[in-house]
Amino acid sequence: MLEVKDLKIYYPIRGGILGRVVDYVRAVDGVTFTVEPRQTIGLVGESGSGKSTIGKAILGLVPLAGGSIHFNGEDITKHIGKNRSPYRKSVQMIFQDVLSSLNSKKRVLDVIAEPLRNFENMTKAEERKRVDELLSIVGMSPDNALKYPHEFSGGQRQRIGVARAIALRPKLIVADEPVSALDLSIQAQVLNYMKDVQEEMGLSYLFISHDLGVVKHMCEYLAIMHNGRFVEFGSRKDIYSDPVHIYTRKLIASIPSMDPDDREKNEQQRDIISREYTERYKDFYQENGKVYDLKKRNETHYVATL
Ligand SMILES: Nc1ncnc2c1ncn2[C@@H]1O[C@H](COP(=O)(O)OP(=O)(O)OP(=O)(O)O)[C@@H](O)[C@H]1O
Ligand SMILES: [Mg+2]
Repeated sequence: MLEVKDLKIYYPIRGGILGRVVDYVRAVDGVTFTVEPRQTIGLVGESGSGKSTIGKAILGLVPLAGGSIHFNGEDITKHIGKNRSPYRKSVQMIFQDVLSSLNSKKRVLDVIAEPLRNFENMTKAEERKRVDELLSIVGMSPDNALKYPHEFSGGQRQRIGVARAIALRPKLIVADEPVSALDLSIQAQVLNYMKDVQEEMGLSYLFISHDLGVVKHMCEYLAIMHNGRFVEFGSRKDIYSDPVHIYTRKLIASIPSMDPDDREKNEQQRDIISREYTERYKDFYQENGKVYDLKKRNETHYVATL
């Protein structure tokens, strides 16, 4: 459904008194992947690795420096800047604390109905009915429609964000750290709603997170990012049970554990990894510090190694 090929996005760095472009930040530097209907693909990596930039590119919000993005065979760059194209209905975004970024003077009804007002010709009654349905899908009662976003907890706000994102029955949702601002117990609740909605609507997610712990139960496939490139791509099993790249292994070892036995094991693992990081650096990083191109290990598992 979504086909991202050798995607490159460079941001200009300006300098000097003339503000000329002196260099570029290679925010995304040659990334390839696909998302099929009903799939959830996780995009995981530390801050600044280029995750949100990939999300923005898929929504047509940033110009590409290279590569291509196709959705159902169609080049999406054609739609950049065109607000009402069908593509803008098919792909939606949820991000961290969605509602606080929206106008807080709007009632929940207006927040959820906004995409409907932009794309569908509904009567007020039809609109209200649809908003009530959407609220109930995320486990909230219709009474909430007339309240304001600040009257809700963080978890409820994110659920309202989910309701808004699915209003136009999209095919793909880019979820950029949708639960990162929430407590652990509330994270699970919001993720469960996201999963239910996925089942019900046959959605795909591109799920962005800096935390491999959070995405573990959401994602069928995961891409691990570092400095604008994929260091490893694989099924959930490949990544969590057989991580190969030193960077992936570092992320796995840093997942906090509740079990004291695991904690000790993790600590040993972290020691091994930091030793290997020095000894085997050249197996994982080129001289300029970039990771290698991905190499196939098996049908589902790809690793950036020498
Ligand atoms: N508008 C911009 N102009 C210039 N540089 C940018 C811009 N947006 C992002 N960058 C740079 O591009 C790189 C990737 O940023 P991006 O926001 O995609 O990272 P991220 O992986 O989403 O990080 P985080 O986990 O902190 O959200 C970073 O080095 C960032 O500083
Ligand atoms: Mg980000």
